[in-house]
Order: sequence, then C-alpha cells, then structure tokens
Amino acid sequence: MNIILIGFMGSGKSSVAAALSRKLKCRCIETDTAILERSGRKSIKEIFLLDGEMRFREMEMEIAKKMSSESDAVISTGGGMVINKICIDYLKRNGKVIFLSTSFAEITRRLQGDDTRPLFADREAAQKLFAFRKRLYKQYADVITDTDNRSIDEIINIILKKI
Ligand code: S3P
Repeated sequence: MNIILIGFMGSGKSSVAAALSRKLKCRCIETDTAILERSGRKSIKEIFLLDGEMRFREMEMEIAKKMSSESDAVISTGGGMVINKICIDYLKRNGKVIFLSTSFAEITRRLQGDDTRPLFADREAAQKLFAFRKRLYKQYADVITDTDNRSIDEIINIILKKI
C-alpha cells in the first residue's frame, strides 16, 4: 500500500511526505518532480508557460497511472491532482488517500513571496480555486488531517493513528 497526500498548494504535502517516509523507512515520491523529469523543463512554471496547463494535466495523469504500480511509498501529489477523477482512481488502486486540510489564511501566509506556483499568482482566483477544490479533497480522502497550528511530527502521528 502507498500513502498518498493530497491538499491545496502550501498545505505541507512535501514536508509531511518527506518526514513520514523517513519515519516509515520507505520511498518518498513527488508527482511534480516526476512530471518535471518527464517534461525536460526546468520548473513547473516553465511547463505552464511553454506547454500549457493542459499538457501539465496530461503528464499528471500519466504519472498517476504509473504510481498505481508502486507500493510502500509515500506519494506527495500536486494540488490539482483531484481535478481529474481518473488520477485519483489510479492512485487509490494501491493506496490510502490523506487530505492535509489547511485554512486559506494559513496557506496565504506560507506562500507569501512564492512565485513558483502559477495558480497562486492571483490571490482572488486562488481563493475561488481553494473553495472549489476543498470539496474534492474531502470527497476523495480516506483520512482528513487538519494542519493549522500543528507541527509536522504531530501531523505524522495523527496520520499513522488514523490509517
Ligand atoms: C498545482 C499545484 C502545484 C503544481 C502546479 C499546479 C495546482 O503543486 O502541481 O503548480 O493545480 O494546485 P503543489 O500543490 O505542490 O504546490
């Protein structure tokens, strides 16, 4: 079984996945990193700019499919993985989905000054996206963990208790 982390940009998926995989002594896979390797581009921003979001989503689906044949890994997904149900279906074939739930205020605080995320460049648009996506994260989650005011260790312990 894999442990799959979903949640909005800035919810801490990468940090929690890294710490959780260290604790479980298993592999940590970042879907965004896998997409970057496949694309030959230097950054996610560059993919969005030069290839377009559609191409990014296609590659996201290819990677989700590949992940369904992985096992015993902690997988940190890009925040948009949930917009395509096929991706979640692939991931759920061999994994438990954990939603890291973070308030928009906290996310805004964490991502202040970040210019690596094309879909967070416009704060108002990002807030609408957040409201829309939240329903999907909840719908697909096997486990929901609030992350506001919690340390990475606390979050990991909650996840391990709940799965
Ligand atoms: C995206 C989230 C990003 C990255 C891309 C698109 C999204 O990942 O995949 O910029 O649609 O929410 P993080 O959630 O790791 O920031």
